[in-house]
Amino acid sequence: MTSRIKEIFQTGQPDQSVTVQGWVRTKRELKEFTFLEVNDGSSLANLQVILEPTLPDYENVLKTISTGTAIAVSGNLVPSPGKGQNIELKAAEITLYGDCPPDYPLQKKRHSFEFLRTIAHLRARTNTLGAVMRVRNACATAIHSFFQEKGFIWVHTPIITANDCEGAGELFTVTSLDLKKPANFAEDFFGKRAYLTVSGQLQAEVMAMALSNVYTFGPTFRAENSNTSRHLAEFWMVEPEMAFCDLEGDQDLAEAFLKYIFKFVLENCPEDLQFFNERIDKTVLSTAENIVNSEFGRITYSEAIELLEKADRQFEFPVEWGVDLQSEHERYLAEELFKKPVIVTNYPKTIKAFYMRLDDNNKTVSAMDILAPKIGEIIGGSQREERLDVLIQRMQEQGMNPDDLWWYLDLRRYGSVPHAGFGLGFERLVQFMTGMTNIRDVIPFPRTPLSADF
Ligand code: 4AD
Ligand code: MG
Repeated sequence: MTSRIKEIFQTGQPDQSVTVQGWVRTKRELKEFTFLEVNDGSSLANLQVILEPTLPDYENVLKTISTGTAIAVSGNLVPSPGKGQNIELKAAEITLYGDCPPDYPLQKKRHSFEFLRTIAHLRARTNTLGAVMRVRNACATAIHSFFQEKGFIWVHTPIITANDCEGAGELFTVTSLDLKKPANFAEDFFGKRAYLTVSGQLQAEVMAMALSNVYTFGPTFRAENSNTSRHLAEFWMVEPEMAFCDLEGDQDLAEAFLKYIFKFVLENCPEDLQFFNERIDKTVLSTAENIVNSEFGRITYSEAIELLEKADRQFEFPVEWGVDLQSEHERYLAEELFKKPVIVTNYPKTIKAFYMRLDDNNKTVSAMDILAPKIGEIIGGSQREERLDVLIQRMQEQGMNPDDLWWYLDLRRYGSVPHAGFGLGFERLVQFMTGMTNIRDVIPFPRTPLSADF
């Protein structure tokens, strides 16, 4: 039976006979024996393997093994005299799966993240990207267990849609038309223009109007030409939607949700988080503890504007009531003023989507954004407009044709209820958790302007 290396570190005992399979990270030849560091992706730490000259075909085996070689090793575990790991493997038999010539791009030195993006098919074999993928997995697991424990139903919203949920016009068109001819979408596959979804919210609302509490978790797409360290053209979003819920309940859920995920990852990926704390950003662990243990700040947009106007600094984008918050403003609030996540509510209706519930003052909507230190907006959500007449008016104000969303309006005709939800940008969460500065390094295959390789 083969074991994963993580299992060996957790439960392996001296004298136990095991087989491991993995890729050689380094080979160190000494006079009396040779050390290999082997990694199979299950843990950050490599398993040290000792090859002694008594090993069958020792000289040849040594020649064929180099950094990147894929091997299986069988042998007995022995206590490790060196520091770091408690156990190592004395090889009795080596099987070679794939050798690895010297032009292997991942040689022992440190590579820049920019360079690693050009070899995205190999970069998960590095310490950092391997740790990112394990933390990403733990975040996704935490998300499902949080909602499942609370009785939310996981629903699957479509990837192809015929509407722009956010109304921001950042849609990718999906077509099977012959692009050499002028486009007539009436003749297209769906008989009308279709897009990759920017959000599963509208369909999640449909499901919440039957199942009460639901969530969707899937890829979303935005043809947003912003080449920043926090934007992807394809990113994953988690979107819960709750019937019989208002803006306060929405904030409570979002705060409990983020706390749960951080606690889960602290408990389940301690080595990986320790690694990020040492190598990437020395505030990773304190940030995580801080999220779990402190209450998030809660302010209205109007209060946020006042705080920004009082700030002892010049912002590149000047602040006044009515403007959208820029990332410099968001970061000032979360990073410097509150030093923890802060929930900002009740934004002007002119800068938010049509579906957000209009407040009694007619000027603001029941929106909420959660701003995180270093990341800025990590969650965007709202209470939804449940009143048919107000919703239609809001759509008209924003130049939309209410007939296009007749089914969405039907939810307000037939048994409408107050409801609310939010969207968490999954990659921004992983960035926040790991301290990775560029969002392209927390998704296996980033899609950004002019880049869809691999
Ligand atoms: O604020 P957004 O646009 O909200 C919605 O799409 C709502 N329909 C969600 C809902 O209420 N169900 O996006 C939600 C989150 C943002 O807060 C941000 O974290 C992330 O999605 N996000 C992006 N992440 C990576 N790349 C991009 N281009 C992103 N755009 C938004
Ligand atoms: Mg938003």
